[in-house]
Amino acid sequence: MTDPFYNETIPPGVSADQVFDFNLFAPCFGDLDPFESVSRLHGLGLPPIFWTRNNGGHWIALAADAIDDVVGDPHSFSSMDPFVPPEHNFGGPPFVPLNVDPPEHAGYRAIVAPIFAPARLGDIEAEVRRMAGEWIDQASSAGTCEFMYDFAARVPVGIFLKLLDLPAEDLDDLLKIGRAFASPPPPDAPRDAVIQTLFDYLRPIVEDRAASPRDDVISKVTMAEYQDRRLTIDEMVGMCATIVSAGIDTTSAALGFIFEFLARSTEHRRALVADPSLISAATEELVRRFGATSLARRAVATVVVHGAPIRPEQRILWMTSMYNLNPARFERPMEVEFTRPRSVHMSFGKGIHSCLGARLARIELDVFLKEWLARIPDFEVLDGKTPFIRPGLSMSYDSLPLVW
Ligand code: HEM
Repeated sequence: MTDPFYNETIPPGVSADQVFDFNLFAPCFGDLDPFESVSRLHGLGLPPIFWTRNNGGHWIALAADAIDDVVGDPHSFSSMDPFVPPEHNFGGPPFVPLNVDPPEHAGYRAIVAPIFAPARLGDIEAEVRRMAGEWIDQASSAGTCEFMYDFAARVPVGIFLKLLDLPAEDLDDLLKIGRAFASPPPPDAPRDAVIQTLFDYLRPIVEDRAASPRDDVISKVTMAEYQDRRLTIDEMVGMCATIVSAGIDTTSAALGFIFEFLARSTEHRRALVADPSLISAATEELVRRFGATSLARRAVATVVVHGAPIRPEQRILWMTSMYNLNPARFERPMEVEFTRPRSVHMSFGKGIHSCLGARLARIELDVFLKEWLARIPDFEVLDGKTPFIRPGLSMSYDSLPLVW
């Protein structure tokens, strides 16, 4: 794929051995899947942070140590307008707290955190179990499904309909929004149209709940206080948009990777069927092995990090899999080992912006997998074909046909 944003200019101070072209939106090494490509990158002897001329020209943090340093320094690396190419940043109201920096960030995060705290997730586990059981029972006699459409996309959307108290008829609209968010932006157009659709969908609902609150996530956001005042409608919409956009595509992508792997590896699948108590360790390990999102920051200071001379306005990006598949951090990183000692991976982020929905996501993944294996213990990918992984900021299978 040719990159319309390829930029030959190498910034001053960047040496030739710090340059390696890597396009997030295109396959890196021919037929290798993105995870194998990342694994190969780790073997090339590249610097911990290197410069790519793709997508306008930006830094890539490859080594886990370098990623820790960037994510741990929100004062030098801003979360506001961090995307590549720079033209693809949304000009509208920010996603709150995702695109907000310190010191404002903490106050916004303190609003969302309690809403998704483990103790408040109460009967979500029962709801996932009920929904998963019903859907899998309906599908099981067919002997086949399009896993991404029939299940992976529907589980997180179904849970959000419940948590946000949205009408069941909105399922299809939210599925469409989720899919549009997940697709790579066309090279000639920013993501504004898709993002605006989500903001436009949420605004009247937020206004309505602000006027007459119920017992749901959106109402809790509308009633929250920030610095001794109520949030503005823009802030409320930005916060709800963050929750919806952060929680749908990520969870559905994770389900796809988990099920594709288990469809292929009879040994791992049978281990879980024989001992379902392994399931939560297994999903954690699979979420590590298939870290699907990429994170980005915009430098707001002049800093040298691991030898990289970074200047204000330059973007720095890393795939979460770069961290998770770094052999300096994880032994045999490409192997899936359910008994691997639990250590912090990057799939849910780290630092001040670490994922506030991680507990909810883990419940969705664990409970859905458990319900599935209890009903359909043996399944495989149709015709054994390797499905295509859509590259980009949020990698996923578009299609995963399963048979049993
Ligand atoms: C497997 C599923 C999920 C994955 C892989 C995932 C991944 C991530 C990552 C990597 C970040 C850090 C972003 C950054 O540093 O720029 C993040 C932040 C966030 N996630 Fe998730 N997420 C998932 C599910 C969810 C769900 C279900 C919710 C619903 C509440 C959610 C809500 C959030 C929020 C609100 C933030 C922003 C936190 C902040 O800026 O302080 N996520 N997520």
